[in-house]
Amino acid sequence: MAVAYAAHTGTLPIGWAQLLPQEFPGYVACGVVGQIIPWNFPLLMLAWKIAPALATGNTVVLKPAEFTPLTALAFAEICQEVGLPAGVVNIVTGDGSTGEALVKHPEVDKIAFTGSTEVGRAIRKATASSHKKISLELGGKSPFIIFEDADLDSAVEGLVDGIWLNQGQVCCAGSRLLMQESVAETLIGKVRERMSTLRVGPPLDKAIDIGAIVARVQLERIQRLVDQGVAEGATCWQPPSLVMPSRGLFFPPTLLSNVHPTSTVAQQEIFGPVLAAMTFRTPREAVELANNTVYGLAASVWSESINVALHVAAQLKAGVVWVNSTNLFDAACGFGGYKESGYRREGGREGLWEYLEPEWFKRAPRLEIKPLATDQPPNQEIDSAAPPIDRTVKLYIGGKQTRPDSGYSVEVRSANGGLLDESPLGNRKDIRNAVEAARKADGWSRTTAHNRAQVLYYIGENLSQRGEEIAGRLAALVGKERAGAEVRQGIERVFSYAAWADKYDGAVHNPPFRNIALAMHEPVGTVGIVCPADVPLLGFLSLVMPAIAMGNTVVAIPSETYPLIISDLYQVFETSDLPGGVVNMVSGRSADLIKVLAEHDDVDAIWSFAGEASSTAAKSLSVGNLKQVFSDEGRAIDWFSVEQGEGRWFLHHATQVKNIWVPYGE
Ligand code: NAI
Repeated sequence: MAVAYAAHTGTLPIGWAQLLPQEFPGYVACGVVGQIIPWNFPLLMLAWKIAPALATGNTVVLKPAEFTPLTALAFAEICQEVGLPAGVVNIVTGDGSTGEALVKHPEVDKIAFTGSTEVGRAIRKATASSHKKISLELGGKSPFIIFEDADLDSAVEGLVDGIWLNQGQVCCAGSRLLMQESVAETLIGKVRERMSTLRVGPPLDKAIDIGAIVARVQLERIQRLVDQGVAEGATCWQPPSLVMPSRGLFFPPTLLSNVHPTSTVAQQEIFGPVLAAMTFRTPREAVELANNTVYGLAASVWSESINVALHVAAQLKAGVVWVNSTNLFDAACGFGGYKESGYRREGGREGLWEYLEPEWFKRAPRLEIKPLATDQPPNQEIDSAAPPIDRTVKLYIGGKQTRPDSGYSVEVRSANGGLLDESPLGNRKDIRNAVEAARKADGWSRTTAHNRAQVLYYIGENLSQRGEEIAGRLAALVGKERAGAEVRQGIERVFSYAAWADKYDGAVHNPPFRNIALAMHEPVGTVGIVCPADVPLLGFLSLVMPAIAMGNTVVAIPSETYPLIISDLYQVFETSDLPGGVVNMVSGRSADLIKVLAEHDDVDAIWSFAGEASSTAAKSLSVGNLKQVFSDEGRAIDWFSVEQGEGRWFLHHATQVKNIWVPYGE
């Protein structure tokens, strides 16, 4: 089966190579790509990695897993035979330390990794101070959800494939069986009956269902986890009639029932032929249970009701959802995780973005950070040229103007050092309150795209009405002409994203099966945004608008140079029907605030556009829950340019693709 997948995976990107200039205009290859793959599907993983990298013009250094280097070496021979220019594909075998050397190499531009979440974390840490682009495909604890109206026999067949394929050593294995209570007993009976027919033995024998485990350490790990499951209250069942081979690394198909949703076997990836079963009563409870892990790779939903299946599919936090099916993959469709199952996609059009970068971005100069006016010798004179700000600027949290927890403020100075006003000094508590407010406002992700578009148009209109006033104040910092341009371009940008809000939709993939895959663009969640210092209004709008247009909620740290922009913005938001909590603004010392945002478990992504130091801080401090980080990589972005400052690059980072496979056709 893996060979067939690999063959299709290998041919599809060739077509993309042909279409690249038309379909990805302005994008170029990343350069040298380091690819690290696991042992569970050595050839398939190799094809998934190498084909898109080459099709997009990258060169590759691939490290296969230490247990399974031979297919990669055979592939290297094929590369030689077909006359691939020397150096385009390089295979380096070795263990974790070889992988580590590849990750740390200064001349590698991108790392694509498939493997454990733990090593994914180590890779994020090792690359935090570099500019490497990263895609991670990590572990999972995928739910296999069976509703009472499902075709139970088909579901059980699906389950056999879902958890016992490759002995359960599959990242997207359906390792948590969630059964509707009314059919649980019948279902358990059917599962046991089917398990009793599984044959365990030499994997090269075609009549065998369950082969050997990859290594002794893995076998021992599986046993340890099963023992722990039992110690925590689960009931373990293995087919009593099963004939186990007398030697070799085999583990029987195992069913753990009465599993508590918080127990180890319900939460940790076992990577073996072990199924943990739980029950639910309502679709709502099924969704809650399904989403109750740190992972979010895949899910299977079984119901004869299209309403139930798609209602549930929409709410699952998983990169792939199979309706009345399981373990379907195709090179035309994206694959990859939510949450700690990693980020970015492999396969399909969405997977190609990972091997490309905007050409202008590759060539962008370094962003020079000017010292803050507050760091310069103070000039206590009030800057009389600037129009007065006749109110005390506050933070904006949960739709309310809020005094900072610290009670302190910082001076904000004009370009010539004159005192403009004071801005609140936000702290850890303010950020935490802002994140809580952003989380509570997640209903925004469920409003229609059309509604979001309307709110953004309204923001644009209200900004135009106040444009002159805002430009007048901003002029004290950036000069009259620049301030006018910032406001004009800022209004345009808001209108652009109002237009994009209901147009950046997904796709329908057509895999060569009796299915289609709905590639839905979903918001990432709560995004922490660190805004550029020197373009206070336009920089803020260029980042916050695409994020909220796609349904995310935001905690923004505005320009450190001119945080007073908050007061202009909240007045606009307050009159634009933007629900409270969708955009929260906390000013203060951005180095301190980034830390809190990056370490916060309820923040799903960090966008850092305030230069090299913030970018590095955002990456290194957010390793814990593997947040996606989108940053300027210390490069200067011309926010006034439409090519650089808006469009698909931002929208791509504001969304994650969920591929929902549904039966379709004759
Ligand atoms: P692993 O994550 O340790 O190894 C995967 C690859 O990463 C191998 O090529 C390995 O040599 C390399 N590697 C290890 N340490 C590295 C480092 N510090 N820097 C760079 N590369 C490094 O996975 P392993 O040991 O094979 O399996 C352990 C667990 O990982 C499994 O029990 C399972 O939970 C998970 N896993 C997930 C897979 C998936 O497809 N998502 C595939 C294989 C394993």
